[in-house]
Amino acid sequence: MNRNHRYRRLGSAAALVAAIGSAHAATLAVTDTAGRPLATAKVREVAAVPTALDTSDNGYPAPGQVRRVDPEITRFTDAAGRATWADRNAPVIYHVRKPGYRDASISIAAGSAEASVALEPETDALKLAEAKPANVWLGALDLGDAARKRHFMLQCAFCHQQGNAFLRRERTPQEWSDAISRMVRYGARLATEDQRALPEMLAAGWRHLREHPDLLATPAPWDPALAATTTITEWAIGDAMSQTHDQLLGLDGKVYVADNIQDRLYRIDPQTNEVTLFKIPHRDGDVPGGLLSARLKDFPRHDSSSNAHSLAQSAKDGHIFITPSAQQRLVEFDPATGAFELHEMGAGFYPHTIRIDAKDRVWFTLALSNQIAMFDRATKRFTLHDLPTRGWREWLTVTLIRPIFKLMSWGLPLANWLPVDRIATGTPLPYGIDITPDGSVWFARLHTDEIGRIDPATGAMTMIATPFAGPRRLRSDGEGNLWIGAFPESAIARYDPKTGAFTRYDLPVVPKGSDTPYALNVDKKRGIVWVTGNQSDALHALDIKTQTWRSVPLPRRVAFTRDIEIAEDGTVYTSTSNFPSWHVEDAQPTMIRVQTTAAR
Ligand code: HEC
Repeated sequence: MNRNHRYRRLGSAAALVAAIGSAHAATLAVTDTAGRPLATAKVREVAAVPTALDTSDNGYPAPGQVRRVDPEITRFTDAAGRATWADRNAPVIYHVRKPGYRDASISIAAGSAEASVALEPETDALKLAEAKPANVWLGALDLGDAARKRHFMLQCAFCHQQGNAFLRRERTPQEWSDAISRMVRYGARLATEDQRALPEMLAAGWRHLREHPDLLATPAPWDPALAATTTITEWAIGDAMSQTHDQLLGLDGKVYVADNIQDRLYRIDPQTNEVTLFKIPHRDGDVPGGLLSARLKDFPRHDSSSNAHSLAQSAKDGHIFITPSAQQRLVEFDPATGAFELHEMGAGFYPHTIRIDAKDRVWFTLALSNQIAMFDRATKRFTLHDLPTRGWREWLTVTLIRPIFKLMSWGLPLANWLPVDRIATGTPLPYGIDITPDGSVWFARLHTDEIGRIDPATGAMTMIATPFAGPRRLRSDGEGNLWIGAFPESAIARYDPKTGAFTRYDLPVVPKGSDTPYALNVDKKRGIVWVTGNQSDALHALDIKTQTWRSVPLPRRVAFTRDIEIAEDGTVYTSTSNFPSWHVEDAQPTMIRVQTTAAR
């Protein structure tokens, strides 16, 4: 086929799309240096002069005030190398990226309808390697044996990626050892034997890969279908010192994101680009860091005595419940008025993932006291369900967890002194939680490789061993099957409560086994499981019926995400949550919306 002819035809298709979206459109054509169109380039369109962020409240926007955040819109080029956006009537910058080519950025004046950019091929082997996502490096890292590698993935990859540019750079074994001591204080339960062995292995292992980039796999190419099917929009929230953790798609269509270490709640309206910030209230006497005050003493800036973690909304009155991990309480927020109410629990430790059942009871895991809590809104009473322990040592730690943290806040480095084993005895860690359509409460217990069920009527509890390590977060599908992330195994699994069968699905990453799925959610209407690809800067989607995967590369590098929300129309929301945020590209965490049209 004559190339010009083909170019024109696809060009008019793009113009048609634009005409539907807006009266004016801007098109970018991406080519190679010989002028040939480049398909499936990822292009992030940003305002050249974005509306300035309000930083009047200790670096953050003043609470309660509505302000505009300019969205960043990422699309992929089609077979003709073109992608189209609605005209912003303002100057924009296109950031263009395609594996195998050098990144390019191009500024466009307001009102330009067409622009083009030519990408230069990258020929330098090290630069090609550096452009690969963290999972490719992590997958190639040799730590001696598979059990140690899995333990490393479980304990070192749940706050931030391993294998991105910050992590794989040259460090001496002593520097690794110092970093690991700090990480153990932050919360890594790396076994004592590995705390000793890893500094040498990490220093040598990363150096070996930097010196032999040919050892790195080539990731699967981006799917050409992305051009016709996918638009990704981001809104900047928080800053380099934030840890935007979980989010909730509210009944009002707005997205609520909690900043874990700045105790702020962001409300983003994806229709209007308006963002409002709310500050989670403290009580007199709450200290910075709350009951975990020793934990982040080395971290440069945090403003949190409660560590807002996870959110759930009552279908009855729209109130949002938030777990403050550093307090023995539950936070209630009324989005209609902006009012907060604090409910004191007086027991339990580390309120974690939260869901609300059909009877308006609020269920959440208590990660460090090894319990499941239930707050009955009708009576305003808490019920705490104790989970079994793995012997007396674990029982003792779980029972004494509050005094242990108190001693640490007085300066005793217990986290570094107490021996840790590979199964994290003492911290069984009840983690994700969800409710199946029959009203059963299901949870995952990360360090014991179990899921469990509570019968809400009787409180009876069943524990079930998983045939995989590190069950992290879980969600029910429409039929009451549970979908569970096997965090250090780069897989997810379906559990069918009727038959007791687990079915495993490996994430579609190259090399196999290199990702760490922190969370997932189920598009019940379409039968799609969306999974966070924490090391691969992607979301992965499994079509349950056809058992086929597709992946959506996210706009920024270091797109470590912890939660997924799905709208009625199939739109997916997540947010960057790498801790620390300064590892994220541009050091800017964002709330991310992925819109896909009926792809397949
Ligand atoms: C509970 C959260 C958490 C876990 C788990 C964690 N890290 Fe970190 N890591 C951080 C934070 C926060 C920073 C940045 C602040 C700092 O360096 O103290 C960081 C920074 C680092 C750095 C960069 C330090 C530098 O020089 O800039 C390295 C290396 C690192 N982590 C390695 C590890 C390893 C190895 C593990 C597993 C033992 C691990 N991390 C587990 C939170 C965590």
